Amino acid sequence: MVQVIEVRTAHTADLDAATLKAARALLDEVFEGDMTDHDWEHALGGVHALAWEGTELIGHASLVQRQLLHGGRALRTGYVEGVGVRADRRGRGHGAAMMDALERVVRGAYEIGALAATDEAAGFYAVRGWRVWQGPSSALTPTGIQPTEAEDGGIYVLPVTVTLDLSGELTCDWRDGDLW
Ligand SMILES: CC(C)(COP(=O)(O)OP(=O)(O)OC[C@H]1O[C@@H](n2cnc3c(N)ncnc32)[C@H](O)[C@@H]1OP(=O)(O)O)[C@@H](O)C(=O)NCCC(=O)NCCS
Repeated sequence: MVQVIEVRTAHTADLDAATLKAARALLDEVFEGDMTDHDWEHALGGVHALAWEGTELIGHASLVQRQLLHGGRALRTGYVEGVGVRADRRGRGHGAAMMDALERVVRGAYEIGALAATDEAAGFYAVRGWRVWQGPSSALTPTGIQPTEAEDGGIYVLPVTVTLDLSGELTCDWRDGDLW
């Protein structure tokens, strides 16, 4: 029997403890133990897109607000975190359905969307119209702006209301754990 997959969105505040636990467990499985507590923390406090197969969670993605500095401005940014589809359910459009839901929020509420892609998923975002950032990346740290060159080439943006110079500098706000 083919199970219907339903993608639902909800703010972190509206998800119960069991759902959040299932989302964390799913991401632990998807990222094979590379998902840190900081990574999970980064995925909280915004809108989650959850793909359900009946009562089983098979996909998660979330969108949180950050400020990215570019061209002398602080841009209100919808930042995508914690994107994963269970390995045995990939290639069936669930990742795209979750991104459709989050990109609707990006377009309606933010000046740009941004994310840091895994090498494996870069093509997934590129076919959706996300543009790779070509210029240097950096972060606004407690000790000033520091380059984050290890991330260069892996940051993607979705321009909404602003014109971006993709070859310019893009600086993210500070947080614990991975900065992008
Ligand atoms: C990336 C991921 C979320 C995609 O989810 P998915 O459900 O398999 O993707 P979909 O089936 O919705 O694919 C949508 C489209 O993107 C394409 N696509 C999917 N993954 C792709 C990839 N890695 N590279 C290029 N294109 C890709 C599909 O071919 C499809 O195109 P089509 O509509 O023309 O057929 C999933 O592969 C995954 O969980 N990967 C491991 C975790 C990860 O890397 N997450 C991203 C963190 S930034």
